[in-house]
Amino acid sequence: MKANSPMSRREALKVLGAGAVAAGLAAVTGKSFAADAAAAPAAPVAAPAGSLGWELPPLGFAYGALEPHIDARTMEIHHSKHHQAYITNAKKLLEGHPDLLAAGPEALIRDFAQVPEGIRTGIRNNAGGHVNHAFFWKVIAPDTGASIGQLGVAIAGAFGSMDEFKKQFSAAALKRFGSGWAWLAMKGGALQVLSTANQDSPLSDGAHPVIGLDVWEHAYYLHYQNRRADYVAAFWNVLNWTQAERNYHAALTG
Ligand SMILES: [Fe+2]
Repeated sequence: MKANSPMSRREALKVLGAGAVAAGLAAVTGKSFAADAAAAPAAPVAAPAGSLGWELPPLGFAYGALEPHIDARTMEIHHSKHHQAYITNAKKLLEGHPDLLAAGPEALIRDFAQVPEGIRTGIRNNAGGHVNHAFFWKVIAPDTGASIGQLGVAIAGAFGSMDEFKKQFSAAALKRFGSGWAWLAMKGGALQVLSTANQDSPLSDGAHPVIGLDVWEHAYYLHYQNRRADYVAAFWNVLNWTQAERNYHAALTG
């Protein structure tokens, strides 16, 4: 909690929109989310207002707020050290490329062709790490909402049941060899469970992430050591369904 001032519960709830489930979902489908999901430009122009920049985004909750499922020390190191390092490294790589810096991280990982070959892998790893972690901090929360919105209906339609979705998502998280991510993403107009290696993002493959889980060891090793399965099982206790619903609606319009 040193590098990131914790919000009060009231502030955190406001930020997380924890009350926006079920009846409130109409608001989630509103224009603000459609605007968030506006397609990124292919050319490196200034990033749209409100999109991710090159600064460490604050958490909407205190580092210890997810305990016992994710411990405070892990959250602090993960957010203030690992995530910050991706940003620092990406900005260093982009020195001398003000146009790419202005485009913003999401635009770069959506279209690597605009990134010079000499820094492309570094940008893939570090801008990818920045975008993935910024996404992850929003889909975990102490106040998780409920999976009863339109996303819940869509998941049941795509996978047969919520339990079957969780089974497939967990399997993807456990099968990912080494470091990477498990995702629920919209791709080709359908909800799919995906897995990516390292800091690769579904955005680079034309997919829109709805739920993501970091399965790098740095995300869980202090508390769970080698027990990735226990960490993956605990994820369902902190998954922010309210944010996932927002992501789903953004994906529908994106
Ligand atoms: Fe991570």
